[in-house]
Amino acid sequence: MRIGIIGGTGALGKGLASRMIKTGFEVFIGSRKQDSAISAALSLGLKEENGGLNYDVASKCDLGIITVPFSSQTETLKGLIEPLKNKILIDATVPLIPPKVMRVQLPKEGCAALKAQMILDESTQVVSAFQNISAELLQSDAMIDCDVLVCGDKKAAREEVISLINKIGLTGWHAGPLCNSAAAEALTSILIAINKNHEIKHSGIKITGV
Ligand SMILES: NC(=O)c1ccc[n+]([C@@H]2O[C@H](COP(=O)([O-])OP(=O)(O)OC[C@H]3O[C@@H](n4cnc5c(N)ncnc54)[C@H](OP(=O)(O)O)[C@@H]3O)[C@@H](O)[C@H]2O)c1
Repeated sequence: MRIGIIGGTGALGKGLASRMIKTGFEVFIGSRKQDSAISAALSLGLKEENGGLNYDVASKCDLGIITVPFSSQTETLKGLIEPLKNKILIDATVPLIPPKVMRVQLPKEGCAALKAQMILDESTQVVSAFQNISAELLQSDAMIDCDVLVCGDKKAAREEVISLINKIGLTGWHAGPLCNSAAAEALTSILIAINKNHEIKHSGIKITGV
């Protein structure tokens, strides 16, 4: 499976890419700038041709992942409607509005993932995941004891994303329809508050009672 990471030059994009590359997936790193994409691809041990403009990466991938700041989610997705048709797009966007990142501030659409689905074609299946996992941990070789909540309106699409998550050594959970992503996105502000108040670096979530 060819995975295209939109905004893959950033912290989360590189973290996810490194775990996926280790697992053997073919990963393409997207950016607004060709040079940045290529240097990020090379830094991950990929070939030059694995870095490209977001549009080209969205075109050649089988499954996309968007890892850009909330403030640029809309503009980025508006430019990718065509190449993302008939594909699954994993949205990791957390609607953080600096400086009050410890405060839950969901958008009027309900959450960032719903906003993404409203922008994209109906043939694109948005599935949200990875909002509660530290990019720094993903970039390291550490074992990650954090689960991943997976929200999406189609069970088959969630299943595909959970399978990908499990293959990279994490545990993904069916967390219901896309609107439930509001809870996963909101949890990130809670985790940031826990990190700050308890002086820990990478708090995460774990499903118990299994
Ligand atoms: N960092 C974490 O630990 C973490 C964890 C879970 C979820 N998240 C969420 O994942 C998303 C990405 O987080 P991040 O920390 O990886 O972000 P980041 O490093 O700040 O940015 C990621 C990439 O987004 C692109 N970008 C920045 N500004 C842009 C703009 N105005 N228009 C289009 N593209 C722009 C940049 O790529 P180019 O300049 O190369 O185009 C950048 O490398 C965010 O929504 C965040 O809330 C982050």
